Amino acid sequence: MLDWNDPISNFTTSKEQDKKIVTEQALENKNVDGQSPVLFDSIDSLKPVDVNDKRIVNGTADINQLAPFKYPWAWNFFLNANKNHWTPLDINMTKDVQDYHQKLSAEEKHLYENVLSYLTTSDILAMRNVGLAVMEKMSAPELQIYQARQVYEEALHTWTYQHCIESIGLEQSEIYNRYRVVPQIYRKINLANQRLSSVLKADIDLTDADALDDFVHSYLFFAGVFEGCWFYNGFSPIFALQRRGLMTGTAEQLQYIMRDEVLHCAFGIRVVNELVKEENLTLDESRLKLMWQECEAAEIEYAKYLLPEPILGYSAEEHIEQFRFIANRRAKQLNISEPFPGAANRLDWLDEQANMRKEKNFFETRVTEYQTGAALSWD
Ligand SMILES: [Fe+2]
Ligand SMILES: [Fe+2]
Repeated sequence: MLDWNDPISNFTTSKEQDKKIVTEQALENKNVDGQSPVLFDSIDSLKPVDVNDKRIVNGTADINQLAPFKYPWAWNFFLNANKNHWTPLDINMTKDVQDYHQKLSAEEKHLYENVLSYLTTSDILAMRNVGLAVMEKMSAPELQIYQARQVYEEALHTWTYQHCIESIGLEQSEIYNRYRVVPQIYRKINLANQRLSSVLKADIDLTDADALDDFVHSYLFFAGVFEGCWFYNGFSPIFALQRRGLMTGTAEQLQYIMRDEVLHCAFGIRVVNELVKEENLTLDESRLKLMWQECEAAEIEYAKYLLPEPILGYSAEEHIEQFRFIANRRAKQLNISEPFPGAANRLDWLDEQANMRKEKNFFETRVTEYQTGAALSWD
């Protein structure tokens, strides 16, 4: 029993005492339910964790022991993620309420609402994919710990969109339901669900070569396309409004989200690359080609729906070309062929937006937090 006056006393017992405790607990179990006693491994049989037993998937090392690290980079992702702390309540949305109701054109309102509608559905999907599917398949705790943080961040992003929707006074049920009635939004979500099906499968056996192959291609889609392109580019229509001094509160919220997403994408790509090396896998170029084609087609439809006509400073054509440009970047990071050779960087301000250090203080009371955020390096 834990002694609350001396809570660490349990940890200082000798091995003899430990064995006695284990045996007594086993006997107690028999007495309570009349069943066979729970079988405990003898503490003498436990060996120190061997780092060589750790693997990204299918590892045999004790998952409950953090160190020794095999993937110290994953732990660093966790430390870096903790430098980007904020909540949506920290950012003043007053000007956005005025901008939305008094300054935005009907086309700009259409753009703003549909971007939020797509993002909010996507972020729930991202949260579920990481928290309920990917995380449990990782067999090293340093990977799972970053992903636990990622799950929290995806939930925080959903709160952020909800806060924007609420602050502006948009009809919640209508915005949240939009992906079910707008085919161009539904197509992206549906494609993601299909492409993530093997990751989301609870009973996938990753010791099977074909299943592992499906898993790695599926996770590659999540890291490289879903987070790396669709999220990374997904904020740019709002940033285009911000560049004209409109909806600046929402855009600031999205800048914080984008910082998280840059890390999510980089982490996922690193996991895929390490997994390919560790398991000696070969990525299937023709399968990937089809993935890029499907994703490009869905993005073209989505962009044309968002922007049937260009708004000042942003067009569907620019959005689509930027998708292709960022897709090439992700492919390079994944050591696979560029899907869209020659695609141009049409929104050269987008990277600037992602890399912007938020040294300015929105609220005097939050100085420390924003300085912490500014300590991030985005190389
Ligand atoms: Fe997110
Ligand atoms: Fe994410």
